[in-house]
Amino acid sequence: MRFEDVKTIGVLGGGVMGGGIGQVFAIAGYDVLIRDINDEAIQATHNAVVEGKWGIKRAVERGKLEFDHALVAIDKVKLTTEVKDLAQCDIVIEAIPEKLELKQQVWGEVDSVIKPEAIFASNTSGFVIAEVAANVSAARKPLFVGMHYSNPVPTMKMLEVIYTPDTTEETIDTAKRLGEKTGKVVSLVRDTPGTYGFLLNRIFGAARREAMAIAEQGIATKEDIDKAMITGRNWPSAFFGSRGGIGKEW
Ligand SMILES: NC(=O)c1ccc[n+]([C@@H]2O[C@H](COP(=O)([O-])OP(=O)(O)OC[C@H]3O[C@@H](n4cnc5c(N)ncnc54)[C@H](O)[C@@H]3O)[C@@H](O)[C@H]2O)c1
Repeated sequence: MRFEDVKTIGVLGGGVMGGGIGQVFAIAGYDVLIRDINDEAIQATHNAVVEGKWGIKRAVERGKLEFDHALVAIDKVKLTTEVKDLAQCDIVIEAIPEKLELKQQVWGEVDSVIKPEAIFASNTSGFVIAEVAANVSAARKPLFVGMHYSNPVPTMKMLEVIYTPDTTEETIDTAKRLGEKTGKVVSLVRDTPGTYGFLLNRIFGAARREAMAIAEQGIATKEDIDKAMITGRNWPSAFFGSRGGIGKEW
């Protein structure tokens, strides 16, 4: 699938990440279809995209988005509980819970439903992409990448595009350019068996282990570690206090 041919974005899972991913693509002019498991979930997705803390209305209020553009974007986000509605999507981005077996099962199920040329992308926080792709057909594996966003997606620019030994250059290029089209800054990462966390979460994890060791050895208090990292590196948050990350409480 070439970048120029991508018109419709499918999203699996309309939670914290899936709603934000759908939102940024809608603002960039793509048709978006988000699938979650029941009516309650998709209503919550719609509310988050339109009214949420990082939603489209607030972007208008903060002067980030023109009113007319916002109306068009809201209209571009469609929601469904049916996987079959995603059949004609050009790329499907998965943002369901961080459970490897669940991701493998869902990708295996949707593979036969979605058109053969569509790209599959997982927003896993760190599972090996080739393992996430374990249950898709051999024909789909060249079209499988990781697209790891940071929370909240509408405001955080980082995007890791993770490629496996099977991923084609065209798929990598399309994922990268889709990221850039939605305002993201893309880092390419080679999928690496036996690891978790790609680039961002591996480095953050290593720093966090050091911070824990420094605290446990009584070298500095947790509060002083956080203070130093926030004021010395300009981090918005550090390890022990409000560190953001997974969850709606960001
Ligand atoms: N939240 C973060 O800070 C963050 C950052 C980067 C990556 N991620 C990754 O993104 C993924 C999603 O995380 P989240 O925080 O958005 O989780 P979340 O719990 O907010 O959302 C997950 C959504 O998936 C839905 N879901 C479950 N099974 C489904 C299925 N079979 N089909 C479609 N939808 C299904 C759930 O109903 C829920 O709405 C995880 O892999 C997570 O590790 C999260």
